[in-house]
Amino acid sequence: MKKLLAMTAVAALTLSANVFAQEGEAIYNKACQVCHSMGVAGAPKVHDAAAWEPRLAKGLDALVGSVKSGLNAMPPGGMCTDCTDDDYKKAIEFMSK
Ligand code: HEC
Repeated sequence: MKKLLAMTAVAALTLSANVFAQEGEAIYNKACQVCHSMGVAGAPKVHDAAAWEPRLAKGLDALVGSVKSGLNAMPPGGMCTDCTDDDYKKAIEFMSK
């Protein structure tokens, strides 16, 4: 019985972690691909490592800052209304590989 309880607790923890942590690909699909799949208005294209290289050179934190405040044709926050810094990082990591 104790073992069963412990397993239930672990399952519940895993579940709740999934609710809060969004995956990079899911965030990209939801909020970034509109522009980054085709490279709209000069957006670095998804999985185009060469296009991302000079961006990544700024450092991930600077890139998250660009997304949050917006950059030229990119609106502040991309199109994500509920993303944390961590979510942006994951989306950027997904796109830049
Ligand atoms: C409305 C179109 C649009 C959407 C939606 C969008 N972007 Fe962008 N993004 C752009 C454009 C255009 C640029 C290039 C800006 C420039 O350098 O002129 C860009 C550049 C970037 C850069 C490079 C910033 C830098 O400092 O060089 C990052 C990182 C980025 N986008 C991440 C994201 C993420 C993450 C999302 C989704 C949460 C997202 N973008 C959604 C259009 C978009």
